Amino acid sequence: MPVVIERLSYEYNRGTPAAVTALRDVSVRVERGEWVSIVGHTGSGKSTLAQHMNALLIPQSGRVEIDGTEVRQKAKGLRELRRKVGLVFQYPEQQFFAETAREEIAFAPHNWGLRGQELERRVTDAARSVGLDPALLESNPFSLSGGQQRRVAIASVIAAKPDYLVLDEPTAGLDASGIRELTGLLSDLKKDGLAIVQVTHDLQSALDNSDRLLVMENGVGVAQGGAEDVAGFLLENPVRGLVIPPLVQFAAGLRARGIEIPLTCDLSAIVMKVEERSGMSFKSEPSRAADAASCGLGRCSS
Ligand SMILES: Nc1ncnc2c1ncn2[C@@H]1O[C@H](COP(=O)(O)OP(=O)(O)O)[C@@H](O)[C@H]1O
Ligand SMILES: [Mg+2]
Repeated sequence: MPVVIERLSYEYNRGTPAAVTALRDVSVRVERGEWVSIVGHTGSGKSTLAQHMNALLIPQSGRVEIDGTEVRQKAKGLRELRRKVGLVFQYPEQQFFAETAREEIAFAPHNWGLRGQELERRVTDAARSVGLDPALLESNPFSLSGGQQRRVAIASVIAAKPDYLVLDEPTAGLDASGIRELTGLLSDLKKDGLAIVQVTHDLQSALDNSDRLLVMENGVGVAQGGAEDVAGFLLENPVRGLVIPPLVQFAAGLRARGIEIPLTCDLSAIVMKVEERSGMSFKSEPSRAADAASCGLGRCSS
């Protein structure tokens, strides 16, 4: 069953002179096991939407339904809905409070009543599923690297065994290798059956990894669909703050010259089409690497 959001609108400070409209008639659906990215510039409403997905914010107008249960003020089972949909905040490590990573991760399942070996197993399983070295469980979370801290934060949400994992700008503050590792980790979690909702302004990463994307602008969902459709939309209708990846621009340039090519960040798909059209054959990466190695240009193995 999915998370369904229908015509959701939300205003902060409603009914006061300081009212701000954060969402206007937004609809989106997240199926179990899917990866959906929410992209848009700062202030476009991404975090407000993410907080509705796990019932942290209650709809003022429109509907939010989590696996068939409508989210309403004072509805029974809000706690269970918040467990089903885990929310990882932007910079979650700023909210660390425990002395050790183990205690940090144990917090939610302990609150759910788990004790003893069962709790212990839940913590080690969560740590394993985010690739956290078990030796680091005894460390003070603040002494860990940025990437490790993010893993602890994600593990502490996963420890509640959610079905959907919503991450608000999960790559914020990480360097390139941290971003690559985190993206790999999210792909692995998806393979294990978890739905991933990633809020990001990194369009390249969203196009590379998502089954579907929702583009937000000024509180409105302006486009929704698969990577190719959304890339096509953004080429025609640029959205402030969303940078079209160079490879997509290149593919669009070839298209404009009559080469039927997918609007994709997938280099091998582009190369294949160019080969087809030109009759030329380009060597693949592995064979080029093999050539380099046989010429003595391979990587040193000291
Ligand atoms: N707690 C709040 N009080 C008042 N306005 C807010 C609050 N949080 C967000 N906003 C406003 O709501 C709009 C959407 O914000 P947000 O959902 O945080 O967007 P994003 O995550 O895309 O940056 C922005 O105009 C923002 O200034
Ligand atoms: Mg935000």
